[in-house]
Amino acid sequence: MIPIPLAIFTLIIFLAIIWLHYQLTYWRRRKAPTVPTTGLYKLRNREHIAYSYQRAYHQMKRENKGYAGIYTLITPTLLIADLEILKLILVTEFEVFPDRGFFVNYKSDPLSRNMARLHGEMWRKIRTKITPTFTAARMRQMFGNVEAIGRHFMQVMEKQAERKRNVVEVRDLCARFTTDVIGNVAFGLDCNSLEDPNTEFRLKGDRTFSDVNPFWDMLASHFPKLFTWLDYKVATPELISFYSNIVCRTVEYREKNGVRRNDFLDLLIELKNRPQQEGEYQLEMDDLIAQSFAFFSAGFETSSNTMAFALYELAKNPRVQERARENIAEALRKHQGVFSYDSLNEMTYIRQVVQETLRKYPPVPSTKRVCRRSYKFPDRQGLTVEPYVHIIIPIYAIHHDPEYYPQPEVFRPERFSAEERQRRHPMAYLPFGAGPRICIAERFGMMETMMGVALLLMHFKFSPCKETAENLIFDPKNVFVFSIRGGIHLRVEKVQ
Ligand code: HEM
Repeated sequence: MIPIPLAIFTLIIFLAIIWLHYQLTYWRRRKAPTVPTTGLYKLRNREHIAYSYQRAYHQMKRENKGYAGIYTLITPTLLIADLEILKLILVTEFEVFPDRGFFVNYKSDPLSRNMARLHGEMWRKIRTKITPTFTAARMRQMFGNVEAIGRHFMQVMEKQAERKRNVVEVRDLCARFTTDVIGNVAFGLDCNSLEDPNTEFRLKGDRTFSDVNPFWDMLASHFPKLFTWLDYKVATPELISFYSNIVCRTVEYREKNGVRRNDFLDLLIELKNRPQQEGEYQLEMDDLIAQSFAFFSAGFETSSNTMAFALYELAKNPRVQERARENIAEALRKHQGVFSYDSLNEMTYIRQVVQETLRKYPPVPSTKRVCRRSYKFPDRQGLTVEPYVHIIIPIYAIHHDPEYYPQPEVFRPERFSAEERQRRHPMAYLPFGAGPRICIAERFGMMETMMGVALLLMHFKFSPCKETAENLIFDPKNVFVFSIRGGIHLRVEKVQ
């Protein structure tokens, strides 16, 4: 006789194997095209998942497949290579694919309620409320706050260059600049991490993504009911209380003392306190915490890495660097030497440098959508995607496709001249995503990054040194954002 516990255990294992087999034959059972890549790459941590998607993408193009089935762990996932299909998913049929499928704990993890993770009606209400925060007029208002931090950044860079005999690790400094910017505009704080890299805000910022365990996060997104029941929190309790306390204290202080600073937090407070129209969503304190955190988590590393990648490429391409400097001088001449929101917008070549950097090193190397109702693709293959199938948009692979960008490894800002842009498919360039769920802060991200690059070029010359890595290596543990292992060391000299 087999003991009962052993029999139950064997039965559970047996059922689990059948279920796993059933899950992992999802695409075969539907006779869908497949491609051999696997989400398990994420667990092995040998290379960034973006490269695995890139290999699959090239194989799909060789085999003329617009999309192909893969598995993210055990979840059926569709990888997209055809830009017309991509447009359907991101733009035309957005209603079918509106979410990213992240786990949200509404009850006890306000940070998980941030806009990038929200789904359905809740996302729509919050996004509609917050969109006016990012208009061009608001950017103009915030320009002064950001510029003041930019000027401080230049002083710190100069000190570092003096102290470190002109060899500076620029990634860290750029991260300290964007931490101070976003800390200022989203939380109303003078973090001053530029002066002191060990401020709590900076240290917590570095842990925002690394503290999220991608394995558990993924599992939670696949079994939301179970993980809600377990009261699973995406962020650590320490991070939750840190950010919640900052927002609550600052809001209380501003409301009590009538303080206004023209930043994102001001606008969120205004939205919270404004009388609501009938049926309009009323923002609560937890929404303010969540959305300030959204701005911080989505905004600080994306912008700082872009700035650091741009400096790396400019150091390696001195002619581009010189042309960029001339472009700044030209724009300033037109505006009587004043560095302002308008003169920055006039720096078309700086914009192209940033755009080319975002092409070559998209800070968000892939984005995701989840299918919410059955949908038949109108192409020759005519696959029907079912609810809960995940969709991967391989941004990095598209940006490195020689069909759209000949010699993709070459850094050439001219690719973003008006004529060249017009010749490309609109979906061939997706650093900020596309459609109704595009990055809400594209304008702010561009302004901050262009400002950082322009101010740096006005004051310093960048060139490679013996510590400069030949190629940048991306940390495979950080699946959401491209972050580099080992930093970016450059020779930094004052412009004479
Ligand atoms: C160079 C800088 C930046 C890049 C490259 C970038 C890129 C992206 C990308 C690719 C997405 C996903 C879009 C999609 O799935 O279609 C996204 C979403 C988002 N980004 Fe950015 N971003 C940048 C800066 C910022 C900044 C500065 C903020 C905040 C101040 C921000 C806030 C957000 C938010 C809240 C979302 C989620 C939007 C939603 O789901 O409705 N981003 N970003």
